[in-house]
Amino acid sequence: MKKIKQSWAEPYKIKMVELLKMTTASQRQKAMKEAGYNTFLLKSEDVYIDLLTDSGTSAMSDRQWAGMMMGDEAYAGSRNFYHLEEVVKNIYGYKYLIPTHQGRGAENILSKILIKKGDIIPGNMYFTTTRLHQELAGGKFEDIIIDEAHDPENEFPFKGNVDLNKLEKLVKKYGAEKIPYVSIATSVNMAGGQPISIKNLKELRAFTKKHGIRIIHDMTRVAENAYFIQQREKGFEKKSIAAIVKEICSYTDGATMSAKKDALVNIGGFLAVNDWDVFEEARNMVVVYEGLHTYGGLAGRDMEAMAIGIGESVSDEHIKARVGQVIYLGEKMIGYDVPIVKPIGGHGIFVDAKKFLPHIPQENFPAQTLASEIYLDSGVRTMERGVVSAGRKANGENYFPKLELVRFTIPRRVYTQAHMDVIAESAARVYDRRNKIRGMKMIYEPKYLRFFQARFEKL
Ligand code: F0G
Repeated sequence: MKKIKQSWAEPYKIKMVELLKMTTASQRQKAMKEAGYNTFLLKSEDVYIDLLTDSGTSAMSDRQWAGMMMGDEAYAGSRNFYHLEEVVKNIYGYKYLIPTHQGRGAENILSKILIKKGDIIPGNMYFTTTRLHQELAGGKFEDIIIDEAHDPENEFPFKGNVDLNKLEKLVKKYGAEKIPYVSIATSVNMAGGQPISIKNLKELRAFTKKHGIRIIHDMTRVAENAYFIQQREKGFEKKSIAAIVKEICSYTDGATMSAKKDALVNIGGFLAVNDWDVFEEARNMVVVYEGLHTYGGLAGRDMEAMAIGIGESVSDEHIKARVGQVIYLGEKMIGYDVPIVKPIGGHGIFVDAKKFLPHIPQENFPAQTLASEIYLDSGVRTMERGVVSAGRKANGENYFPKLELVRFTIPRRVYTQAHMDVIAESAARVYDRRNKIRGMKMIYEPKYLRFFQARFEKL
């Protein structure tokens, strides 16, 4: 008998739909020009399929919506805060919780508490907001991810791993007392959603323990990382996503979370720590920047939706379909010879713009150019993750990252397989006419996180 393939499928059905506007090529030309060729500046109404980000764009479940109605909007001591606190303790294992309006709110508070001027913060690749908060607090980020992560074609299964030799060199050079913590992201966003292994985390824990250095976990996409551990790491095949998530967290001392991703909510985040002293300071500081320590910038209903979303996010069926859809899109693109980062990551497809448009030098923003071309072709909105996102160093020079990527980020539980087909075909069409595409120049540059608001002109 022939072996029949076992496909993934969504563990839910659709109860309500949101109608989309379809645009013509000339409408898109006009919209893109008005947006200064920056997909962040497009109006969402002019977008057909929105792959700008998986952040805050997921579809909530009927249970989450029901939870919204159970919001306790008291200024202090909301019931929903205690529910969230219990969920964070039970599912992730962290002792103390500070809610924040989103991930960067937690990054701000944590950086201000732990970083002193002149400190070094090693991490497995930078993330835009995370690094900026480290720098604003007086620290300097140092990349300690393995070299494989900077090579889009290297198929190493755990490209989020830390190179312990790089870390050891930093400890020797600066001394452990200059390193307040190692910043570890699960599902490393800028590397293409690449996971870190349990084995690597355990080794890192042993090393940092020896030197008295904390590990702070950017757990924004921890469940997706857990899925890759379950699929790829020896000894974890039979473990549940929930068990793997908890084990990952157990090797770290605290976490910042943008709940807008894994946790299936449109807004929210938190800081979670095991150290009473850090918690106490954070609880003092949150009232300055976010709100009282039992709401941190969120409504009671937001905390309730987050508490329920966290539970749904660690279900095996959910994650299998979630990552399954991303892999489906990636394999389709590979089928059309579109150059993408491999292995396929957890939250989106990252197209290698240097390889896609080899005739455009990095100074002329190949990834930014490609993102605008994809929109012009089909109304699909993607995001630049290359030289524009990388920004400038403290001395004003541009960072020129090895990876010059366009991210096709998939919101959770939002689009269908047919949408994935349309997206892959659009990428293929643009690839077919790649030789005719010219680069761009930047005509407006904001001081911080320039990718959000920069404007461009075609050359
Ligand atoms: N850490 C990671 C790994 C992220 O991907 C993000 C946000 C943050 C922290 C900051 O969280 O947005 O809630 O303040 N990433 C979004 C993205 C913006 O599109 O990748 P936030």
